[in-house]
Amino acid sequence: MPRLFEEELTVLEQRSLLRKLREIESQPGTIVTVQGRQVLNFSSNDYLGLAGEQFMRDAAKRAIDEYGVGATASRLVCGNTTPHAMLESKLAEFKRTEAAVAFSSGYATAVGTLSALASRADVIILDKLAHASLIDGARLSNATIRVFPHNDLKKLESHLQWAKDEAPDARVFIVTESIFSMDGDRAPLVEIVALKQDYGALLVVDEAHAVGVIGDNGRGLVDKLGVTAHVDIQMGTLSKALGVAGGYICGKRKLIDLLINRARALIYSTAPPPALAMAACAAIDFMESPEGEARRRRLWGNLKVLAAGLPTGLTPEKIQSAIVPVMFGDEERALEAARWLLEKGFLVPAIRYPTVARGAARLRVTVSAAHMTDQIESLTEALRLMHEKSVEG
Ligand SMILES: Cc1ncc(COP(=O)(O)O)c(C=O)c1O
Repeated sequence: MPRLFEEELTVLEQRSLLRKLREIESQPGTIVTVQGRQVLNFSSNDYLGLAGEQFMRDAAKRAIDEYGVGATASRLVCGNTTPHAMLESKLAEFKRTEAAVAFSSGYATAVGTLSALASRADVIILDKLAHASLIDGARLSNATIRVFPHNDLKKLESHLQWAKDEAPDARVFIVTESIFSMDGDRAPLVEIVALKQDYGALLVVDEAHAVGVIGDNGRGLVDKLGVTAHVDIQMGTLSKALGVAGGYICGKRKLIDLLINRARALIYSTAPPPALAMAACAAIDFMESPEGEARRRRLWGNLKVLAAGLPTGLTPEKIQSAIVPVMFGDEERALEAARWLLEKGFLVPAIRYPTVARGAARLRVTVSAAHMTDQIESLTEALRLMHEKSVEG
């Protein structure tokens, strides 16, 4: 069958939706090498610039020397090493919750958790822009799924009322992100907490893009808003501002114990390498230090530089996180813009369907504390030029 899969690939290409892997030939950082050329990177989630830090490498290397490379088995067999236990107690302390459990990725965390906690008899109400991992977890649970338009509290409430009327015995989960991964805006968590209390629902908040960026010591938006006690299930990743890889859930001890017993993504998968857990521990220690706070302030300083240099109308009025979308709508136009920027020396990939809705293609600009002011200014200059060209053309 020589033409197997060819047709699907051709259709993707015709719709400007074909993806290809791009090889990064250098270390993580604000300057990376692509096809032998150095370009400025405005696309990573390494918001604090920790992925390549020497102290992170040292923590991982020490752990490799002490614990080896692989965990050798799943967590419940013999893969639960001291670094895993250390990481989980640090995460619980950092998030000011009773307990935590770590998974091998954020994706596995979402899928493993929602499918473990909800079942066919339950209802999961998702924000329309919730990450694919949360959607997949909800689907796998077999619960009834309801979706509310992004941050639309009225529609969320009407779904809650529907669940109360139609499925009075169901467990009802509200699932949202605190910072949305492709739009960079925030969820109205205080109002969502009020609704969840009114209707007796459970609240799941994915803090993937808030941790390290928002709140004292980068504890996230949940902590900043003082709603920790009301968020039943706090999710996060080790793979964004913490600069490593992996995911976690924080909450009450009983929640964590249930996940250890039920989450198939944890039970039936080899534990992540202990070195990653130790590097993540080093990242949390750093975030809690005065240097960590200074690094986070530098990130917000960089975001101010970006905001000051952006042409009006190109991006949302207010920057609320380290993620700044530049909207195009049309997939081909977004791809063209990304190609043009790459030619000028900036790596800012186009984000297209199905990561975002059809016709909502964009460039996703991300800023790191490690960027230099002149690097950000050169990006805003290029974006201004691009904007002028598109207005003229
Ligand atoms: C909001 C959100 N949740 C979960 C994930 C998955 O995390 P990970 O990359 O650690 O698998 C991501 C990242 O892709 C994300 O943006």
